[in-house]
Amino acid sequence: MNRNKITLIGGGQIGGNLALISAQKELGDVVLFDIPQAEGMVKGKALDIMQLRPHDGYDSLIQGSSNYEDIADSDVVIITAGIPRKPGMSRDDLLSINLKIISDVAKNVKKYAPNAFVIVVSNPLDAIVYAFHKVSGFRKNKVVGMAGALDSSRFKAFLAMETGYSVQDIQCMVLGGHGDTMVPITRLATIGGIPAEDLISKERLEAIVERTRFAGGEIVKLFGNGSAFYAPAASAIEMAESYLKDKKRIIPCASLCEGEFGVNGYFIGVPTVIGKNGVEKIIEFSLLNHEKEELMKTLEAVKKTVSETGL
Ligand code: APR
Repeated sequence: MNRNKITLIGGGQIGGNLALISAQKELGDVVLFDIPQAEGMVKGKALDIMQLRPHDGYDSLIQGSSNYEDIADSDVVIITAGIPRKPGMSRDDLLSINLKIISDVAKNVKKYAPNAFVIVVSNPLDAIVYAFHKVSGFRKNKVVGMAGALDSSRFKAFLAMETGYSVQDIQCMVLGGHGDTMVPITRLATIGGIPAEDLISKERLEAIVERTRFAGGEIVKLFGNGSAFYAPAASAIEMAESYLKDKKRIIPCASLCEGEFGVNGYFIGVPTVIGKNGVEKIIEFSLLNHEKEELMKTLEAVKKTVSETGL
């Protein structure tokens, strides 16, 4: 059998969970890649997951590596490489360090895995996915950022927690940038097909929207050191799975817009069809005036971070 090959660049908290879920879903063989200083860590995680497989009987192979030759011909590359913000470090400092890292990663992915579908997770997401696209020269359908899938799952989780109904029956989407200006489209949230606005009071819905906007920060505060990793990993896997299985799921992703929703030349969270050709389509729909205004506000925030990259 010809198995898919999934490369995870960055074998930290999210990377390790990406490897685990890829194995458990039998999406393909996995290369967990990190810098030479972290080679032991990724080799150890890979071995640990190899030893977990007999419990459930999945046969995917997991390999740890710090040699770019091992990522050759990957079908999917998911990038979480970077450093998290440390106390005393400004956003600019973080951006300039992670920019250097993504430039190095982009050159190597282009060299060794030029046909891969690339999902960028590293923060600040909107600028880092833009930088990957610029530096790698990949076609726009082969590069996408993971943000909306996570922000939407957080919105869904809070709606389920509020009502007590199954997460499975909740639909909603969060558009825009991956930051405080993200745009949860409250009017389109449904629970069992019923508008959430009919089931939850206006005040409670507003509180849920607010919690969604700052959900990442809530976890950062609780951890004290580091950021969320379980849900981010599951969100990126949802996108990879839709590509590998040609599912044509409609997932809010940071996709390169060229006129859609009035956005031109920026990666921003929009409903995206992911199938065997990667980003197959951005689905446009009419927004209400206040939603349009919010989207333009988030676009300004995205433009600002992108301009700081100097690319
Ligand atoms: N090439 C490959 N890997 C790298 C590089 C590089 N040039 N530089 C750093 N890394 C690795 C680190 O060694 C580390 O193992 O990236 C990994 C990042 O892992 P964590 O610090 O555990 O971060 P994680 O919680 O996984 O988040 C990764 O995703 O959601 C974002 O904000 C988050 O930007 C962060 C990223």
